[in-house]
Amino acid sequence: MKPHHVQQQRQLATEMDQYERSAEFVDVMLAPVWTALDPVLAEALRGASGPVVDVGAGGGHGTQVIARAMPQTEIFAVEPSPGLRAVLLARVNEDPDLRDRVTVLPSDLLRAALPPRLGTLVAMNVIGHFDPTERRTIWQLLAERLLPGGRAVLNLQPPAEPIAVPHTRFSELRIGRRRYEGWGRAEPAGPEQVTWHMTYRVFQDEEPAEEVEVEYAWWVLGHDGLKAELAEHGLHVRPTGPADLGLRRISRSPE
Ligand SMILES: C[S@@+](CC[C@H](N)C(=O)[O-])C[C@H]1O[C@@H](n2cnc3c(N)ncnc32)[C@H](O)[C@@H]1O
Repeated sequence: MKPHHVQQQRQLATEMDQYERSAEFVDVMLAPVWTALDPVLAEALRGASGPVVDVGAGGGHGTQVIARAMPQTEIFAVEPSPGLRAVLLARVNEDPDLRDRVTVLPSDLLRAALPPRLGTLVAMNVIGHFDPTERRTIWQLLAERLLPGGRAVLNLQPPAEPIAVPHTRFSELRIGRRRYEGWGRAEPAGPEQVTWHMTYRVFQDEEPAEEVEVEYAWWVLGHDGLKAELAEHGLHVRPTGPADLGLRRISRSPE
């Protein structure tokens, strides 16, 4: 008989992998995004303390940035998708420094076994996965567990309202003979939600070779909405870095 939490983990893994079919493409397609995010997140983390939680760490692009920006700090990289977690674990394992101080937690953030006090929480390209109730649980967690001077850093991604976003190519890269394209379009799905329809196209020697379509729910959130939610928990927010990257820095006291 396995302990209860082990069984529960197995159940969660099968229920929750929204990235099961796209994991193969998501990490490589996020690489160019991270070229832009890297220095901005690093700057937003200047002077921050540990331990750090990397929420929805994906394949670990952000985890690497955090580790470089915050040497010697312990990092908890929370990643529920087995597909993306495989990329993350391999990336962490290949770097002796990351291997020493990054713990990969195979869990949803709200069920993760986090340290009782947190220096920093980073949530990049992920906040739209949490519905309004779940977001409030995160703000509550920050209010209760952030150490004095602690902070959270996240990015808000458009759309901030439930509006349609036309079919757009957001990523393209070549690996060997194959060229990969990532396309997305969104449609409104209620007062606070859109559905993203993603298409990943693969060409070999310029001939179509593979096409994968996935969709996922995304809860929209703009600056004013975020500010109002945080205020309910005594938290403050301010933009940081170039406006088009949407980064926000959250703290207990106004900065
Ligand atoms: C678009 S990816 C971003 C990955 C990474 N942060 C990056 O920017 O490269 C969103 C990630 O959030 C994760 N995720 C979704 N729901 C989550 C939840 N409830 N708790 C923690 N992570 C979650 C997904 O599995 C996925 O890895």
